[in-house]
Amino acid sequence: MSKQRVLSGMRPSGKLHLGNLVGALDNWKKLQKDYECFFFAADWHALTTEYNSPEGIQECIKEMMIDWLSVGLSPEKSVLFVQSRIKEHAELHLLLSMITPLPWLERVPTYKEQQQELANHDLSTYGFLGYPLLQTADIIIYKAHRVPVGIDQVPHVELSREIARRFNFFYAPVFPLPEPMLTEVPRLLGIDGRKMSKSYNNAIYISDLPEEIRQKVNQMFTDPNRIKRSDPGNPDICNVFSFHCVYSSPETVAQVNVDCRRAAIGCVEDKKNLAENILTYLAPIHEERTRLVKNPQIIEEVVENGCQRARGVAAQTMEEVRRAMKIS
Ligand code: TRP
Repeated sequence: MSKQRVLSGMRPSGKLHLGNLVGALDNWKKLQKDYECFFFAADWHALTTEYNSPEGIQECIKEMMIDWLSVGLSPEKSVLFVQSRIKEHAELHLLLSMITPLPWLERVPTYKEQQQELANHDLSTYGFLGYPLLQTADIIIYKAHRVPVGIDQVPHVELSREIARRFNFFYAPVFPLPEPMLTEVPRLLGIDGRKMSKSYNNAIYISDLPEEIRQKVNQMFTDPNRIKRSDPGNPDICNVFSFHCVYSSPETVAQVNVDCRRAAIGCVEDKKNLAENILTYLAPIHEERTRLVKNPQIIEEVVENGCQRARGVAAQTMEEVRRAMKIS
């Protein structure tokens, strides 16, 4: 039996942080075993919000690809590519726009939310309204079955299902109906206790040097009620402890859980411990990153090869689409 197809994308925001790693990449890496995977940099999607400052986007793609490869996304197992290099996405987006009722786009929750959240961007554009339709084209052009995404993206995958269904109904059964794939992931907050995000300046990056990582971990907020070294702490509300759960051994986690509650270990020592465990985890990743940075042609080769494979599939689907829509 052939494998089901998985597809996901990420907007190129530059170097990735540990929140991206546990939130998405670790999962993508696992999916490579059981699915035929397509992963891509959604640079056209980046333009929907950054249309007036596109300078950084291409460099961000490269940074992101280095991170993808160094954490273990594999060009042998997966198709790794860049959205804007597969023009077929744009053609499908256009054709799908013919059958997409405006209210379907207007009622996607991220539409109004993002307009409010990014109030410093003028998002009253056609492209921004069409964001989830472009995403639909990304997904169905590869006939993907499963789309691993965060909870905020589920309405987009649901829209893609509705559009695929509508296309199949009007013309011909070309598309499988894609489904979101939600995975429980540990939640890692930024060093200040807010959501880890580039824009909050609170992220630990995969590519941070060991000394930076030690420093950042050292600055992390802990249980706010533990003021003195002799106060007992509560790991349940401590971000450092959440990190231990991801990066330290089960024995360490159990030990910290006990010692913190009886003030047998202080936060400073505990953080030192954590920083070393993160560094141990990242060591092979950093090694691979060094190799890639020294040999940048490897990255272009991987991406070029991935784009060719993606284009082959996309072109095939577009032939079916044109035939179904009587465009020959
Ligand atoms: N909108 C997604 C995000 O912001 C990125 C994305 C674009 C995507 N196209 C996709 C994700 C297709 C999954 C499938 O995270």
